[in-house]
Amino acid sequence: MDVLNKTGMGEALSSYIEQDRPFLGICLGLQLLFESSDENGPVKGLGLIPGVVGRFDSSNGVRVPHIGWNAIQITRESQILDDIGNRHVYFVHSYRAMPSDDNREWVSSTCNYGDNFIASIRRGNVHAVQFHPEKSGDVGLSVLRRQKPAQGKASELAKRVIACLDVRTNDKGDLVVTKGDQYDVREHTKENEVRNLGKPVDLAGQYYKDGADEVSFLNITGFRDFPLGDLPMLQVLRHASENVFVPLTVGGGIRDFTDANGRYYSSLEVAAEYFRSGADKISIGSDAVYAAEEYLKTKVKSGKSSLEQISRVYGNQAVVVSIDPRRVYLKDPKDVEFKSIRVTNPGPNGEQYAWYQCTVNGGREGRPIGAYELAKAVEELGAGEILLNCIDCDGQGKGFDIDLIKLISDAVSIPVIASSGAGAVEHFSEVFSKTNASAALAAGIFHRKEVPIQSVKEHLLQEGIEVRM
Ligand SMILES: *[C@@H]1O[C@H](CO)[C@@H](O)[C@H](O)[C@H]1NC(C)=O
Ligand SMILES: *[C@@H]1O[C@H](CO)[C@@H](O)[C@H](O)[C@H]1NC(C)=O
Repeated sequence: MDVLNKTGMGEALSSYIEQDRPFLGICLGLQLLFESSDENGPVKGLGLIPGVVGRFDSSNGVRVPHIGWNAIQITRESQILDDIGNRHVYFVHSYRAMPSDDNREWVSSTCNYGDNFIASIRRGNVHAVQFHPEKSGDVGLSVLRRQKPAQGKASELAKRVIACLDVRTNDKGDLVVTKGDQYDVREHTKENEVRNLGKPVDLAGQYYKDGADEVSFLNITGFRDFPLGDLPMLQVLRHASENVFVPLTVGGGIRDFTDANGRYYSSLEVAAEYFRSGADKISIGSDAVYAAEEYLKTKVKSGKSSLEQISRVYGNQAVVVSIDPRRVYLKDPKDVEFKSIRVTNPGPNGEQYAWYQCTVNGGREGRPIGAYELAKAVEELGAGEILLNCIDCDGQGKGFDIDLIKLISDAVSIPVIASSGAGAVEHFSEVFSKTNASAALAAGIFHRKEVPIQSVKEHLLQEGIEVRM
């Protein structure tokens, strides 16, 4: 709104809309039509539609931000939305407008998330949607093209299946997708080469076609120093977003740094470059660990960490914190000052307890903070989602670490993505039935074509777990 008002665009937009000229607002493009918003505010909107945009209430038992594929209920005939009432569309937001008697003539659909909030509005040629048609796969594209989408059976927020691509340069200088065992990506051959599982843009396109609900790109060498302009990941994002119409997340190397030529970059500049190239969310690893340690020590939010800066400018829903913990068995929970749990399977020496130690620098260095303490701290600092890995399970194919995922997903009220260890379709239904994870991520089994994404979804559906088909 600040920018619209400063440039005179706000007034121009209001008179354009009042003349019933064709308009489609997306997300904030819907919210700014209302009288005001509580986000960073109150902030005055264009005031064309009666109502205030407020925050979701997580005391209703829902996780905030509302991230993922949800079903909408059509309340009034609307050319562009006809027939999508039974399909999933992608939402990512913490604030929403509510239907009321005063705005009833505008509301064309609602979505249920704790309450029924406004999913779309329509009057004459003026349309706006809270969800993201440009990220809602074939259904979203059909909205934009005003075509009829295929029928479906959506009824609630779907569990997400995410494909992750670990990207790095191999020894020949080619950009490859790789995958290791417990973070070791080199082949155990004489040449010791980086394992090559395909090209990032091609694989992302393939996973989109196969039904991935999201694609994550991780620069696994991102903790080294680099000149911002040279990041090949920016090209990967630009090309991938031409053909992949689901959310893209990018991680690795998002922090303040000074390059070899003495040029200083803020993490906000790095993130901005990723967002402009097509990323929807950025993922922060090591830097969030240091920020959380500092916060727990001083009990003060400095506002200076990359996590805080980026979520302040782009919103919590744009910032994922990636946690890389390692399981440390304990004979007695009193042996550590961090949160420990009773484990389902005892340790090698019969230990009944464990804590999960956070690591940095691609799992190379253990830190004096647990995954539980980290998760709670980063939620307070502004993280919108947690990507929960586990070094012990990574690449093992024996299933997710249910103890860890239950611990963390019950500790925070932001969505948690379960990662590390998927080896079969049953591992996905297990993690969704035994924990409160909102999404599950896998890499190796998709790259090696051992378990196709489609089979995962069909299995989940058979088990009565809602997914986007
Ligand atoms: C990953 O980060 C490293 C350094 O931190 C950089 O040199 C490399 O170009 C990045 N890779 C991609 C794919 O952007
Ligand atoms: C999900 O969270 C609720 C509330 O925190 C808890 O009671 C429930 O046991 C959790 N569900 C699973 C499957 O872990």
